[in-house]
Amino acid sequence: MAEKRNIFLVGPMGAGKSTIGRHLAQMLHLEFHDSDQEIENRTGADIAWVFDVEGEEGFRVREATVISDLTERQGIVLATGGGSVQSKDIRNYLSARGIVVYLETTIDKQVARTQRDKRRPLLQVDDPREVLENLAEVRNPLYEEIADVVVKTDEQSAKVVANQIIDKL
Ligand code: S3P
Repeated sequence: MAEKRNIFLVGPMGAGKSTIGRHLAQMLHLEFHDSDQEIENRTGADIAWVFDVEGEEGFRVREATVISDLTERQGIVLATGGGSVQSKDIRNYLSARGIVVYLETTIDKQVARTQRDKRRPLLQVDDPREVLENLAEVRNPLYEEIADVVVKTDEQSAKVVANQIIDKL
């Protein structure tokens, strides 16, 4: 990459956005940010608390503000929350301000990667697979719509995926 530009990682819960994003940022000497982490930093509470107290609607407002602010920077890798692409404003920020990389994965991998994790409020249900399938139906076309680069993350290590992204930039 000639100049310092931004890379925005989109994709569903359990695609590996944060892990891959950290590797990518290190390899490219860019700053790493994570929209969920930034929401937690700003509120001083965790995502589950925000959902509990403010509802998903309140969380989405915070998410849009954080992504609007972070995408105005230069030279960052940003891991976005899996639901952020459902906002047209967020899709516009991402498309206009950097290279959008869609991390594609399978429902099986998502289930495996998220099952022991209690931090995702939308998956604290009896059948998280069904939730993930329903979300994929709505969101996968949106990830595809804004993606400049698509990489599969189901079979490779995070480092290998980060290298594949670099090859495609
Ligand atoms: C969400 C994904 C989560 C987090 C929140 C809602 C979603 O982020 O933003 O729990 O709607 O898919 P990750 O994609 O990083 O898990």
